[in-house]
Amino acid sequence: MHEKTDLSGSFILAPVPVVLVACSHEELGRNLLTIAWCGIDCSDPETVHVSIRPERHSYRIISESGCFTVNMPTVEMTKIVDMCGVTSGADGDKFDRAGLTAAPAKIVQAPLVAECPVNLECTVKNIIPVGVHHMFIGEVVAKHADEEVLTGGKLDFSRIPLITYVNGEYWSLGRPLGKYGFSKNG
Ligand SMILES: Cc1cc2nc3c(=O)[nH]c(=O)nc-3n(C[C@H](O)[C@H](O)[C@H](O)COP(=O)(O)O)c2cc1C
Repeated sequence: MHEKTDLSGSFILAPVPVVLVACSHEELGRNLLTIAWCGIDCSDPETVHVSIRPERHSYRIISESGCFTVNMPTVEMTKIVDMCGVTSGADGDKFDRAGLTAAPAKIVQAPLVAECPVNLECTVKNIIPVGVHHMFIGEVVAKHADEEVLTGGKLDFSRIPLITYVNGEYWSLGRPLGKYGFSKNG
């Protein structure tokens, strides 16, 4: 039998997205943080989750405001992504520190990160305390993309150099390998 090495003690699921989650609160102001524990949950209603530790400054902002935005950063933003994940909005405005623009969203009070080419607006549907992270299930109530990343009105990911998170490292993506369902064509 092929021998496998036991990796218990380490946490591995890769690749996962790495995103900038933005939020805003009447008293606490705007903020953003880096999130890698996130994903799609359901197609109808369209929902995504972000898992956040209660000690994060953003936790109170999102749980009390009931909304957040998910912003997809590109490879040139990797240093900013890291910075937003190692500094707290409790110590100063991260939009200013990162030189990012907070653009008004269409529906929610949380801002969009203008420099990210794709943005999702979410309202909090549930908060599930899983353990050290609490999972915020967000219903996607609006989606936006920069004109430059569309081809024929559709998102064209060959124009979006996304970042992915692989076991503690930031990676860029390689090349497309085939379209959904291509295996049916022999
Ligand atoms: C690559 C990366 C991924 C991260 N993913 C998460 C995550 O999924 N959940 C979380 O609670 N914190 C995560 N963090 C840590 C927060 O982004 C970090 O604690 C941040 O300073 C919190 O900001 P805030 O205090 O302004 O809310 C991540 C950090 C990095 C660098």
